[in-house]
Amino acid sequence: MNSESILKAVKLDLKKYTMNPATRKREVRLSELKEYFSNPEAADRILSSGRDPVVYEYYEYSVEEAVGHMTLGLTIIYPGKVGKEYFMTRGHFHQKPAAEFYLGIRGRGILLIQSEDGRTDYVELRPGIIGYVPPGWGHRTINTGRGKFIFFFAYPSDAGHDYGIVKEKGFAKIVVEEKGKPIIVDNPKYAGST
Ligand code: F6R
Ligand code: ZN
Repeated sequence: MNSESILKAVKLDLKKYTMNPATRKREVRLSELKEYFSNPEAADRILSSGRDPVVYEYYEYSVEEAVGHMTLGLTIIYPGKVGKEYFMTRGHFHQKPAAEFYLGIRGRGILLIQSEDGRTDYVELRPGIIGYVPPGWGHRTINTGRGKFIFFFAYPSDAGHDYGIVKEKGFAKIVVEEKGKPIIVDNPKYAGST
């Protein structure tokens, strides 16, 4: 093997749901996400019982965060709800208008996208279904199933992440459980278009 090789086999372990090697691994717990849910008091009730569950975790692999490269990753969202609202990622826009795709691997969920002026759309992800995020659209994923929701993703490595817009305004839609089924409804806390 050439010791200067830039090619690496990146292994997605489809039994343990890990990705190796990874240049980034992150776990996000409920305490960090509390304010992103429409009912933070419901989050407080979970936290005050002494639990701070991992809501999601993700792996990323980038050769270099530079123009032309792609970052690959694996996200695992755990099953759960805060009040009626399903566990979800924080959500973000990219700093540069970059596209991204998600490939469902296990479980079921929703990829919710939102333009900066507040238009929304979504696709249901299941194993084998690909969701496409157009450049310039914010995105969040939601686990609507009873088991882990796992997907693979890829995006341009120089895209950067902007978490500020979602933190400030939220998403216009939220995904909640009603009569045992997921439904998408207006977010009562949405702070309007940009
Ligand atoms: C990367 C991307 C996904 C998410 C991951 C966690 O651009 O869209 O990999 O980063 O699912 O979500 P956030 O980054 O919103 O915490
Ligand atoms: Zn993204």
